[in-house]
Amino acid sequence: MPHTPRATAPQGLHQLAFGGDYNPEQWPEEVWQEDMRLMREAGVTMVSVGIFSWALLEPEPGTYDFGWLDRLLDLLHANGIRADLGTPTVAPPAWFYRAHPEALPVSREGVRYAFGSRGAICHSNPDYRAAAANITEQLVRRYGSHPALALWHVHNEYGVPVSACYCDNCAAHFRRWLTARHGDVEAVNAAWGTAFWGQRYRGLDEIDPPRTTPTVGNPAQQLDYARFADATMRENFCAERDILHRLAPGIPVTTNFMTALSQCDSVDYWAWGREVDLVTNDHYLITDGRRTHVNLAMAADLTRSVAGGAPWLLLEHSAGGVNWQPRNPAKRPGEMARNSLAHVARGSDGAMFFQWRQSLRGAEKFHSAMLPHAGTDSRIWREVTRLGADLGLLNGIRTTRTVADVAMVWDWQSWWAQSLEWRPSQDHDARERADAFYASLFDRHLTVDFAHPDADLSGYPLVVVPALYLATEESGRNLRRYVEGGGTLVVSYFSGIVDAHDAVHPGPYPGALRDVLGLTVEEFSPLAEGGTVRLVTPEGAPEGPELTGDLWSDVVIPRGAETMWSYADGIPAGRPAVTRHRLGEGTAWYVSTRPTGAGLDAVLDRACEDARIAPRTGLPYDVEVVTRTGDAGTYLFVINHTGGDAKVPLDAPGTELLTGEPATGHLAVPAGAVRVVRLDS
Ligand code: GLA
Ligand code: ZN
Repeated sequence: MPHTPRATAPQGLHQLAFGGDYNPEQWPEEVWQEDMRLMREAGVTMVSVGIFSWALLEPEPGTYDFGWLDRLLDLLHANGIRADLGTPTVAPPAWFYRAHPEALPVSREGVRYAFGSRGAICHSNPDYRAAAANITEQLVRRYGSHPALALWHVHNEYGVPVSACYCDNCAAHFRRWLTARHGDVEAVNAAWGTAFWGQRYRGLDEIDPPRTTPTVGNPAQQLDYARFADATMRENFCAERDILHRLAPGIPVTTNFMTALSQCDSVDYWAWGREVDLVTNDHYLITDGRRTHVNLAMAADLTRSVAGGAPWLLLEHSAGGVNWQPRNPAKRPGEMARNSLAHVARGSDGAMFFQWRQSLRGAEKFHSAMLPHAGTDSRIWREVTRLGADLGLLNGIRTTRTVADVAMVWDWQSWWAQSLEWRPSQDHDARERADAFYASLFDRHLTVDFAHPDADLSGYPLVVVPALYLATEESGRNLRRYVEGGGTLVVSYFSGIVDAHDAVHPGPYPGALRDVLGLTVEEFSPLAEGGTVRLVTPEGAPEGPELTGDLWSDVVIPRGAETMWSYADGIPAGRPAVTRHRLGEGTAWYVSTRPTGAGLDAVLDRACEDARIAPRTGLPYDVEVVTRTGDAGTYLFVINHTGGDAKVPLDAPGTELLTGEPATGHLAVPAGAVRVVRLDS
């Protein structure tokens, strides 16, 4: 694989990116003129085009109609708007499927999906691969040197709506992938533990995808299939990317991620982050009762981390409500700007939307847009143009990097493994623990980097590990090195249990983390639904509040760790519940239950003391404060999510960029407002 240079921005874009998915093919060309006028009025700098346009660009097999796209790109160029040009490979035309019905993916249950939506793709299908390579090549030959071209947008959101296909082509491809990964069938038998339930294979030809089985299927097979499906999508991305690089060197290539946990959970973004030139992300608020701005911050931090800390780009979010949740609330006044600027604070060099003009037809006509059905005499339009103007005042932040205070260990593969069936408790959800730890860090105004379990963590005073069920020996050694070197680690229950093949590490739990935590777990003791346990500080330990745990408890045997809280009841009564292990220059905490209420805060308070992280005083709750810094200066973003005015102490004087006012001492941030101070150096 040739090395691909990373871009810091779309080519030729010298401002923050502001715009959206633009689907002018849904409108008569007269409307395009109005679009250009309104885009200029709103301060649009870049739009994403052509993402779903295959059927228009290649109306007959091998016959191309580029006329409309020629006119569109020329028009964008004439109006000073950069183009993020899609390869339309997420939406092959109807004629393609008539000729190649096997390119339609098959569900786990054996249902072949039909044409008539989008994203119906078997990524192993050779006809699909050839056709995708061809349309990509046609596009790059035609537009590779078009002056409007800033960025290639390959495909769309790999991993949704179909995360894996279970067809016969995929079965054959899976067998080849297994050979490359494991060598021969005996190695697969060993890795998958096929001695269990008599699943032994004589040859690779006997192995199928993990299709629907009468009862629980082999977990290691399922885990390998998830890896295979992810790798297969990545192969297709890389194939398109290499064509684009070869024929249009210098134009960065991206594909839009969806890093928010649970919005697309089948993609290992650590691996994908290495393959794109510029990391881009789509983010939508999930209105399920949790604090949406905290989830947004988490997704943005995760995206930045996947980008290795470099600036990235929010390629889609929404101006108002979406249309695909059970209930789709409008955004409150100012919320769209807070969302956009929170992404920018956390590393995005711009804020883009799905979509520019709200559709009249099709499945997404009730999804909000920058230019809504109501037209320009609307709150959304006023807020959109205001945001465009505000972003125009922030162009100086480009290339600066967000400053993180602490790290959270996250691994998609561990999450996949943990999410398989027949675990000690169906109530335990790795993502829920990650959310809870993140929220506690957010509430103490700490900015979080995410890190792979094998990453160098030495730069962080505090590292939390909310749920790392699958942890290799190597990851265990890495965490140990981190603590020995002076770090403070906090690990939640059911971590370090299995290896890369979902096999339990030999010896007592938690195999990979026993040494660093200074303990063993003799037995898991998950609680009944609604059950709780009481946690008290034992004699001799520093006094702390009585805590309550639910969902889980462990029978912990300390082997060097001290007990900070112990169980007052439940099966492990009298035994350690929260422990602290001094190792080398550092400290490792273990939390063997799910603390309720402010319990996790109480534990993290102590860990922050060990890490010498001073609590930030004078910052109101739910006022988000994030710093970006670099050669272009230091910028303090303050986002007031509360209904009251806030006053935020400044470390140094500066200039507030959105109002142009000097800022010294305490910065006043009105309810719901955002302020960005460029600090005097
Ligand atoms: C995704 C897709 C877009 C659109 C939006 C709607 O992010 O990439 O094409 O469907 O969702 O929220
Ligand atoms: Zn398939």
